[in-house]
Amino acid sequence: MKHFLDIDKTTSGDLRQIIESARTMKIARGGRPKGTPDDDQPLAGRMVALIFEKPSTRTRVSFDVGVRQMGGQTMVLSGADMQLGHGETIADTARVLSRYVDLIMMRTFEEETLLEMAEHADVPVINGLTNRTHPCQIMADVMTFEEHRGPIKGKKVVWSGDGNNVCASLVQAAGQFGFDFTFTGPETLEPEAAFIGAARRQGVAVTMERDPALAVAGADLVVTDTWVSMHDNPSTRERRHNQLRPYQVNAALMAKAGPDALFMHCLPAHRDDEVTSEVMDGAHSVVFDEAENRLHAQKAIMRWCLDV
Ligand code: CP
Ligand code: NVA
Repeated sequence: MKHFLDIDKTTSGDLRQIIESARTMKIARGGRPKGTPDDDQPLAGRMVALIFEKPSTRTRVSFDVGVRQMGGQTMVLSGADMQLGHGETIADTARVLSRYVDLIMMRTFEEETLLEMAEHADVPVINGLTNRTHPCQIMADVMTFEEHRGPIKGKKVVWSGDGNNVCASLVQAAGQFGFDFTFTGPETLEPEAAFIGAARRQGVAVTMERDPALAVAGADLVVTDTWVSMHDNPSTRERRHNQLRPYQVNAALMAKAGPDALFMHCLPAHRDDEVTSEVMDGAHSVVFDEAENRLHAQKAIMRWCLDV
């Protein structure tokens, strides 16, 4: 069973193949209207369940559109509306869904929920974000970087802000794709030590730098994300904002990174908190290419999962 659960659970060869396939499919569409089918219809006759236990704009729409472009059908399910939200076990839900659908994409809270779904499903399961990781996002980010700047191998990627789920998948990608990674943010919000250690063992430099100005020197890419994620307790908002304010990505910080540095954000952005509008809408920013590439990268992930 080819689940897509995390960047570190897929081989670097398969990750590379997925990026190439995404690029090929994007070029083959040639900018045709979004509702028109691809020339290839690898998901013809396939049914895909998209389960959301948290809100989503990009993941929901890009998976739904991607399946349809490849000739498949989708059903978008809210966890709360399923029996899952009323006490049915994950394992039983996985067994039942496997009798109806060919592929499951799930966005949930605890990683254990996703892993249990994958363990008991007879069909591939894709991680559409958990509290701990967000691998589909980072596949789109790698694709986007390479479209603009060529191979990401050997480049310097800097994360400024909260070492959250998106940051964790980026650290895993550093090891798998071979780029150096610097985190700048408060010590208490660093990515998990296990992620850092694993990337280092794969031979890339992973650096913790408290000073954002020093961190971004020589960066090829600067990335940030919201200071309060969907799984964070809203009561921590003020404290997190106070801790993270020095790590805002603004024009002064991007100037220290240099003229060729790209800026990425998985979105949704909180303009003028973690990033200023000037940077979001400025010359370094590729955030909307990044959002578009969710579509292409996930289409390639689904094809890889189903071997089609
Ligand atoms: N970046 C991302 O996953 O966005 P959504 O929460 O809108 O899906
Ligand atoms: N870190 C954010 C990402 C949203 C796509 C969250 O988990 O809320």
